[in-house]
Amino acid sequence: MRRFVLAGAGHRAYEMFALNLYEKYRDTIVLSGIFDLSRTRAEYFIKNADPRSVFYDDFDKMIKAEKPEGVIVAVPDALHDKYVVKALEYGCDVVCEKPMTTSAEKCARILQAEKKSGKKVTVTFNLRFVPVLMKLKELVSGGAVGAPLTVHYEYLLDNPHGADYFRRWHRKAENSGGMLVHKSTHHFDLVNWLLDDAPRSVAARARQSLYGQKYDSGKRCLTCPEKKECRFYFDITTQDRIRNLYLDAEKDNGYVRDGCVFAKEADIYDNMAVCAEYHKGAVLTYSLTMFNPYEAHRFSLTGTDGRIEMTERYNVDSEITVFHNDGRTTVYKIPKDTGTHGGGDRRLIEMVFGGHKADPLKSMASSADGIRSVMTGVMANKSIAENRIVFASEYPELL
Ligand SMILES: NC(=O)c1ccc[n+]([C@@H]2O[C@H](COP(=O)([O-])OP(=O)(O)OC[C@H]3O[C@@H](n4cnc5c(N)ncnc54)[C@H](O)[C@@H]3O)[C@@H](O)[C@H]2O)c1
Repeated sequence: MRRFVLAGAGHRAYEMFALNLYEKYRDTIVLSGIFDLSRTRAEYFIKNADPRSVFYDDFDKMIKAEKPEGVIVAVPDALHDKYVVKALEYGCDVVCEKPMTTSAEKCARILQAEKKSGKKVTVTFNLRFVPVLMKLKELVSGGAVGAPLTVHYEYLLDNPHGADYFRRWHRKAENSGGMLVHKSTHHFDLVNWLLDDAPRSVAARARQSLYGQKYDSGKRCLTCPEKKECRFYFDITTQDRIRNLYLDAEKDNGYVRDGCVFAKEADIYDNMAVCAEYHKGAVLTYSLTMFNPYEAHRFSLTGTDGRIEMTERYNVDSEITVFHNDGRTTVYKIPKDTGTHGGGDRRLIEMVFGGHKADPLKSMASSADGIRSVMTGVMANKSIAENRIVFASEYPELL
C-alpha cells in the first residue's frame, strides 16, 4: 500500500485529495496521516473520506510515524514552503497545491531543498486538465496559428466567487501573496504552458475597487445586523460540509470562514491588469476582476498563421475558433465535463497518483513551472508597488 499524508485539512484538500483518493485508489493508496491545527476538521475527513487516516497536531511526528512516500501540501499559500521543505528534507516527494508559494525567497528555498533531496515537487495546476484548455494546448502547440505574437487573457470572477477571497486569510497579502499570486498563478501558468515560454518583463496596475475599506476585521456574516440587505451575505450554516469544516471547527483555533468582505484589514487588490513581454517575443495583456455578474474566462492568441479564440463559461459547453489568415475558420465545440473544475481535478488526480506515464500535453507541472507562474505574480506586485517595469533578469537564480 502506498502511503501519503496531508498537511492542511481544509475544503480544497477534502474535495480534491481525500475524496478522490479514497474513491478511486483506496486499494493501492492510503491517506494515512492528516496534520492540521483543527482536530474537528481532520475528524470530518476521517468520518467522510478515508476512515484509515490518523489525525496529527504535529507535522514531524506524523512523518516519523507514517513514513509516507509523499506529502500533500494544502495549507494556506504562505505556509506551503514550510511543509514542502520539511517534507523534502524527510526524503518525501511533494504534491503541492497552487500557488507553489508566495515570494521569490520562498521559491528559492523550495528549489534548493528539492535539489538537495533528489525528490520531486509536483504542483497541481488543475486548469491544465480541463478539456477545453487541453484542446487549446493541443492546437497552439500543434502550430494551428503559427508562432505566438500576442495574447489577450481576461478572467472574470463572479460576485460570490470574487467576494469569497475577502472573507478569510486570502484577504491579507502576507497569507496569499495577493490575487496576482494566489489566483493568477493558474492563469500565468496556463499562458506559460500554452506558449512554452515565460515572461521577460512584467508591468502591472491594480486597485481595490469594491471590497475592503469599511469595517473592523471582527465583523462577520453569521452575526451581522445587515445580513438581510447585503448582497454578499454568506450563510455558513446551510451547506453541511462548510458548516462542519468551519463553523463547527471554530472552537479549535478561531478560524472564521464568513468574515465581512468589506473588512478594512483586506490589503489585496480586486481589479488587476498586467502586461508581460515573453522571452520568445509574444506580448500578453491580462486582467483579473472579482466582482462580475457571471464567471468566465476568455483567451485569444494571434500568431504568424492566424488567430485562436476561446471562451469558457462555467456549466456551459465551450467553443474554440481558429481564424486562418486565408479567411477560413474552424470551430471546435467542447462539451462540458462533470466533476469539480470541469473534470480537471479528477484527471489531475489520475495523472499524479494513477501512475500514468504518457503525458502528451506536458500537463504535469514541476517546481520550475510553479516558480515561473508565482514569479509572474510577484513581478506584477513589485511593478505596482514600485511603479516600474520589472525584469526576470532581476531574479537570476530563479528565472
Ligand atoms: N487548485 C484549486 O483550484 C484550488 C482551489 C482552492 C484552494 N486551493 C489551494 O488549496 C490550499 C488550501 O485552500 P483551502 O481553500 O482549502 O483553505 P482552507 O483555509 O479551507 O484550508 C486550509 C487548512 O490549513 C489549516 N492550517 C492553517 N494553518 C496551518 C498550519 N500552520 N499548520 C497546519 N495546518 C494549518 C487550516 O486549519 C485549514 O484546515 C491553498 O493553497 C489554496 O490556494 C486550490
